[in-house]
Amino acid sequence: MDKFLIEGGRPLEGLIEVSGAKNSALPVLAAALLTDEPVVLEGIPPVRDIGTMQSLLAHCGARVAVDGTTVTVHAGDLPRPEAPYDVVKTMRASSLVLGPLCARTGRARVSMPGGCAIGARPINLHVNGLEQLGATLEQDHGYLEARAPGRLRGGLIHFDRITVTGTEDLMMAATLAEGETVLGNAAREPEVVDLAELLIKMGARIEGAGSSTIRIEGVTKLHGARHRIIPDRIEAGTFLIAAAATRGDLAVAGCVPEHLTALIAKLRQAGVAVEETAPDTLRVFGGARELNSVDIKTEEHPGFATDLQAQFMALMTQARGISFVTENIFENRFMHVQELVRMGANIRIEGRQAIVAGPRRLSGAEVIASDLRASASLVIAGLMADGETTLDRVYHIDRGYEKIEQKLCAVGARIRRVSGTLARSSEA
Ligand code: EPU
Repeated sequence: MDKFLIEGGRPLEGLIEVSGAKNSALPVLAAALLTDEPVVLEGIPPVRDIGTMQSLLAHCGARVAVDGTTVTVHAGDLPRPEAPYDVVKTMRASSLVLGPLCARTGRARVSMPGGCAIGARPINLHVNGLEQLGATLEQDHGYLEARAPGRLRGGLIHFDRITVTGTEDLMMAATLAEGETVLGNAAREPEVVDLAELLIKMGARIEGAGSSTIRIEGVTKLHGARHRIIPDRIEAGTFLIAAAATRGDLAVAGCVPEHLTALIAKLRQAGVAVEETAPDTLRVFGGARELNSVDIKTEEHPGFATDLQAQFMALMTQARGISFVTENIFENRFMHVQELVRMGANIRIEGRQAIVAGPRRLSGAEVIASDLRASASLVIAGLMADGETTLDRVYHIDRGYEKIEQKLCAVGARIRRVSGTLARSSEA
């Protein structure tokens, strides 16, 4: 199992490039199941979750060809429209194939997800939505069996709570349904808009993606298309925070600043200078001044992203005063807290709130990554800490960040990836 050895105390300086968005790549890959023609997707980051999704599409019968960051999916025939347990247990987003498989083949068999490090993560809203579109769903032996002989039919779906992959799953299913579907209380994340853009290129009729009401007029067939996905706003945000945390001077290039509005506002409140130096580049100056403590509450987009909460909390350990960090999206997304405390942070959890008192000097320690974004938080803490931090179980970070240690080392960090006890690559 790989580990990172992180030597702290070095500012990040220079220019760092953002990869394509993992959370856009996953739904657009699933969308390729909706047509028997090839779909060419560009900017797909070679991270572990994407590899898992590609294996899932291949399991269903699609041909998947990878050429650098361009992935071509040709789902000519789908003899096995199913997502087995082995895949679903490593990646919740496997439920994204439920809608497309059901719409295209009239049936889908998807393993029920179990628990997860950040919360329960049920898929009841996907299931209820598909039932509204006329599918019959049954649960048996840990699997959900969906059937929709003939076509799905358009319907009115109002989500009880906002769900990102639920919105994406049902938007995909509705593209091939008979008649109009209206999704109410839909997610407004940029990744939903990106998916809608691909689907429209494939011949779908969709209006309103990016707002809370999405209208889809079903068509009988979708065709192939070529699409470049959006940059990863969470990776970009992680770099912005890391630069602020190390008092660096970093240009984060290839991002979409409007996708990061809530984070930029909070960084500025904390006293970090963030400037848009080009339409796709943000420059952060950490500066020597002490940071102000600021409160954050995670919300659906355009609010502060839950996927940046852990990283921002690491930064707040260095701010003067008390920061209240409220997690509203997932019930158990504070697994990084105890690890930050082991490094010297002063953080107390009260229900959905973490109370961070700073500034506290962090010192390198052995810590364990529990999920993807918690790992990113601990990398940031390691970059700020005195001495060496050993981060164990970095397979979590490999799920969603493309070569993060190499990217960070190119702008001044010292991170080595070691495999077991042997150094596999010296400074990456
Ligand atoms: N929820 C339900 N029922 C459902 C679906 C969701 O109760 O059927 C609840 C969840 O338990 C959660 C809330 O609704 O409390 C929101 O969950 P959502 O469905 O929006 O999350 P998701 O679609 O499973 C995506 C991202 C996550 C990100 C969340 C929130 C992808 C592939 N994943 O998950 O990304 O945290 O939205 O923004 O898009 C990550 O990248 O590290 C990550 C976890």
